[in-house]
Amino acid sequence: MNVYSFKDIAVLTGAGISTESSIASFRGQNGLWKNYRPEELATPQAFAKNPELVWEWYALRINTVLKAKPNKAHYLLADLEKTRKLTIASQNVDQLHQRAGSKNVLELHGNISHSRCLQCANLDKLKIDFKHPPKCSKCNENTRPNVVWFGESLPQNTFQKAIQAFQNCDLAMVIGTSGVVEPAASLANLAKSKGAFVLEINPELTPISQIANLSIRDIASTGLDNLINN
Ligand code: OAD
Repeated sequence: MNVYSFKDIAVLTGAGISTESSIASFRGQNGLWKNYRPEELATPQAFAKNPELVWEWYALRINTVLKAKPNKAHYLLADLEKTRKLTIASQNVDQLHQRAGSKNVLELHGNISHSRCLQCANLDKLKIDFKHPPKCSKCNENTRPNVVWFGESLPQNTFQKAIQAFQNCDLAMVIGTSGVVEPAASLANLAKSKGAFVLEINPELTPISQIANLSIRDIASTGLDNLINN
């Protein structure tokens, strides 16, 4: 398969593309949720019940993410974007695609780098070892992480752009996602239903494997490298 024979590429990425940057994924071996139950931490209800606990957990994650560096897979996608139309819809909140140089990135689940004021919606950039729970720099009210939690809607404008990208692409690449969290997971089905070639890169079998035209059972860096450079 020659990736350069496609003109319009839409890429769905998940936590697996960042494990080589030492950020733990959610599910699978060493997944984050093995130690922390998501319903205790990543829901509006959990935050309402115990904002300090949720902020404490996010502070740990934010420190990990801010110290992490993009890996080869992030850089390969950024390079590919220089040669053709390419949109990345990422479920990741770590901004490693942007830091690798990708320009056309849709953050389906927000990003972890900012707090959002519960009163005035102001976004404040968070630094390593920030004091938590952080207060809004504008109005001193309480804030929350600027991410999408279980049970919350995706940012509609961003998701609409992702739908367009997957509807119009001729190649949909699905990299490092377990493909179980909706509505992001359905983007691959959408591309397939519109006639796109669906390519998955994941060391494990996922629900996406059933619809993929090709599943590459490899980690993101070497899977992409072989695909692009061979
Ligand atoms: P998951 O943790 O569910 O899945 C990670 C996937 O990456 C698994 O299928 C692994 O097999 C695969 N994987 C692991 N290492 C890899 C590597 N080096 N290269 C390629 N693949 C690798 O992560 P997501 O699918 O991103 O949502 O999870 C989706 C959403 O669930 C997250 O965005 C988050 C979570 O709840 C919210 O927080 C709203």
